[in-house]
Amino acid sequence: MCGIVGYVGSEQAAPILLDGLARLEYRGYDSAGIAVVSPRHELQVKKTVGRLRALSDLVHGGADVEGTIGMGHTRWATHGAPNDVNSHPHVSENGKFAVIHNGIIENYVELKEFLISQGVTFRSETDTEVVAQLLEFYYNECGDFFESVGRVLRRIEGAYALGMLCADCPDRIIAARKDAPLLLGFGEGCSFLASDATAIIKHTRDVVYMDDGEIAVLTRGGIQLYNAMQQPIEKEHHHIEWEVSAAEKGGYPHFMLKEIMEQPDALRHAIAPRLRGGEIVFDDLKLTPEKIRGFDRIFIVACGSSYHVGMVGKYNLEHLLRRSVEVALASEFRYSDPIVDDKTLVIIISQSGETLDTMAALREAKKRGAYILSIVNVVGSSIARESDDVLYTWAGPEIAVATTKAYSTQLAVLDMVGLCFAKLLGTVKEEEYADAVRELALLPDKVKETLGHCEDIQKYAAQHFHHESVFFIGRNLDYALGLEGSLKLKEISYIHSEAYASGELKHGTISLIEDGTLVIALGTYGPLFDKAMSNVIEVKARGADVLALTTESHRNEMAKTVDHVLTIPDTAAMLLPSLGVVPLQLFSYYIALQRGCDIDKPRNLAKSVTVE
Ligand code: M6R
Repeated sequence: MCGIVGYVGSEQAAPILLDGLARLEYRGYDSAGIAVVSPRHELQVKKTVGRLRALSDLVHGGADVEGTIGMGHTRWATHGAPNDVNSHPHVSENGKFAVIHNGIIENYVELKEFLISQGVTFRSETDTEVVAQLLEFYYNECGDFFESVGRVLRRIEGAYALGMLCADCPDRIIAARKDAPLLLGFGEGCSFLASDATAIIKHTRDVVYMDDGEIAVLTRGGIQLYNAMQQPIEKEHHHIEWEVSAAEKGGYPHFMLKEIMEQPDALRHAIAPRLRGGEIVFDDLKLTPEKIRGFDRIFIVACGSSYHVGMVGKYNLEHLLRRSVEVALASEFRYSDPIVDDKTLVIIISQSGETLDTMAALREAKKRGAYILSIVNVVGSSIARESDDVLYTWAGPEIAVATTKAYSTQLAVLDMVGLCFAKLLGTVKEEEYADAVRELALLPDKVKETLGHCEDIQKYAAQHFHHESVFFIGRNLDYALGLEGSLKLKEISYIHSEAYASGELKHGTISLIEDGTLVIALGTYGPLFDKAMSNVIEVKARGADVLALTTESHRNEMAKTVDHVLTIPDTAAMLLPSLGVVPLQLFSYYIALQRGCDIDKPRNLAKSVTVE
């Protein structure tokens, strides 16, 4: 979604802003712009629709905009078409104020009408422009930038991460946050603003995450934070641990491929510190055994692939804990009047920790008394900070829009939560627990082994990339796995695909199967292998071209019926999707490659969905 970067220091701002924006490209955008205050205290605003390259060309890599303080923005259109005028920064009528904004100003129509009635002329169709115009309006009243910001914040409703410049105060950027991520970076004689640490990590690792209602004033001499009452506050600083190289391609053609290949290491980071002497130990969990025993309802709430992790988790946690687990899409849960009280555990799953629907679901559950345990990748993100308990996945920065290593590590952590709670509740057999823990320790190596089948998968992708419709079928854990395989394929290759529970085929879907239809048959789950085979036979009989995925021990059996078989190593049943997802990720990747798609930045999608 939209990206923000700001800089005030002694170096030329424009190249720093362009570099920061380039590092935010992965979030998805359709236009970009920068505002830099010139040495003569004039606001220079340059913006354009399209890729960053166009913006960089427009300003000759930054050479055309002199100045050591500025802000940059990548826009993902919500209000108003993607075009030059609607791009950020937005400037007030007298050209004195520039504003960049992530989020949505919900009462912008009312504010716009008010300002028009006061004689203000608007240029764009955006909600953001009202912030710039309101700033000018209040500045005309009070003559003070900071006070004007306070007045604006008291009038606007909705979600915002704001960066604001005033030509009359050329030494400062003012930032404000509500329901949209924003962090501050502290440098030597310089200060930074960013929606995502990736934009500024090259310059500083010393950051403060802004909370809702906070305002910050960034100058060369440092950053002063204020609460919503505009009183000065002090906040804890965080040190970003990961390396700059983690957010670079490192020789791979795409971030997605790099992140697929990083999965063995990512899983090692997520699992190894939590395994000790054959036991699962969560040093980072605050939940007490009494509290765990007291839960009578469990929800898993998430969006997209994180929701698919929850679908696998439902099967595994219900089996392990012998209690019902409901999986809910965050966008539905938040408006569903959910049956949640103080005996409910709500497990929130999110890579970014900033997904707006997931955040809203968390708040809804919290309001109703639930205990919130979140599984999050981005350290210090909003979801992590608002949860009662957080388990980090330690996958490192994930840049490609299509999630891979975050999915795998979320799944491993959720499985570990299930096993840990089951041991405590006495609902899992000793042998099953011991076997799962042993296999968890082996998972990174088994994923590595699975990645070794890359060439076969590439070959199948070359045979199948022309299909316009693909079906994933499977039962139980394989059905949940199919949901993720299908999403991966459609989001990056734009091939229509659906995942079905195999048993449902004959209730309608099988009518879609005809000669040459590509069916990806998932048959990794041993207890239902025979049932899976019956469904494979059914679709084969109707002319489907079947590519099957199974375990090594079932390869021969599967190969009797289908022509193409991919395998994963055998493991504990509950961990099969953790291995099964790897060939599906690679298959989608190579199909998208064959089709010439923009793999890391698929059309219409954003990495972090911070609007509803
Ligand atoms: O950051 P989150 O895990 O909350 O994001 C949720 C979804 O937007 C995300 O998983 C999305 O579905 C991915 N593009 C899938 O690859």
